[in-house]
Amino acid sequence: MLDWTDRHCRYFHRLLAPHALLYTEMLVAKAVLHGDRARLLRFDPAERPVALQLGGSDPGELAEAAAIGAAAGYAEINLNCGCPSERVRSGAFGACLMAEPDLVASCVRRMRDAVRVPVTVKCRIGIDDRQDYEFFARFAAAQADAGVDALILHARAAILKGLSPKQNREIPPLRYEYAYRLKSERPSLELVLNGGIGGLEAARGHFAAGVDGVMLGRAAYQRPALLAAFEREFIDPDWSLPSAEALLEAIVAYARRELERGTRLHAITRHLQGLIAGSDGARAWRRFLGEIATRPDARPELLAAALPLVRGRLAA
Ligand SMILES: Cc1cc2nc3c(=O)[nH]c(=O)nc-3n(C[C@H](O)[C@H](O)[C@H](O)COP(=O)(O)O)c2cc1C
Repeated sequence: MLDWTDRHCRYFHRLLAPHALLYTEMLVAKAVLHGDRARLLRFDPAERPVALQLGGSDPGELAEAAAIGAAAGYAEINLNCGCPSERVRSGAFGACLMAEPDLVASCVRRMRDAVRVPVTVKCRIGIDDRQDYEFFARFAAAQADAGVDALILHARAAILKGLSPKQNREIPPLRYEYAYRLKSERPSLELVLNGGIGGLEAARGHFAAGVDGVMLGRAAYQRPALLAAFEREFIDPDWSLPSAEALLEAIVAYARRELERGTRLHAITRHLQGLIAGSDGARAWRRFLGEIATRPDARPELLAAALPLVRGRLAA
């Protein structure tokens, strides 16, 4: 998620869920090819496994960017066909690509030829007035035929004219039944469901309906302790939420290393806002993080001193 799941966020999330597949923000393929590649692709080995999400629609460029990403150690290359923002549309990628299933299939083929790691596509159920199941199924079929390793479905349409990206994550209704139907028609296509999944109960229902995986967006960011609950429920029954002490200790150690390389403390602590979301101390914790951010001499050790604010309040 743009501006949210940067490498600092992912480092933190990995502490909560050792096996969840974490995704980068969308990186434009051209930027990977011509930009500050080392900075854009950098991640800490502890974040692994991480999937790299690319934006683009030029098969050659995407193949090259995918190869660079795979060589950098990313575990999966994902193509964004779901982002509705203006900026993305003018570059001819994101959700508007749902109208071009064959072009996307060519991108998938070229990327698959270029890497050994899985190549996946994240899409919507439709765009604008094309929200019928047949439109979606045609798009999915083209990607399946191209050998896509999984389809990740944000199960609502994107309205390219008239709705902001935020509204496009809220207003078009969720249609999980598209995912269930596709999965029943194409059982061999791996399907990961995304959109509005806020807890274990919902995820259990989707698995029971046949999907292969679930992807959490906002819920995982806003209530990161959920990640630990998902890890325990679906991956490792012996896993439990780390203690507040252990978490803060790990984050302080990470922040020390990062500050030495020039990272600002706030770049790390801003992702911790939801750590005790829902508990009675949540506001005091957020205020504390805000204060840290404005101190010019902010040191990681300040976080350790905040242990009493967090202790006993971690819960999904
Ligand atoms: C701040 C923000 C940034 C996002 N950036 C991306 C992105 O870069 N790539 C992408 O595929 N989806 C992006 N999304 C969409 C989410 O991945 C997800 O599909 C959407 O929020 C619905 O899932 P949720 O209800 O679990 O949040 C973003 C969402 C938010 C809130």
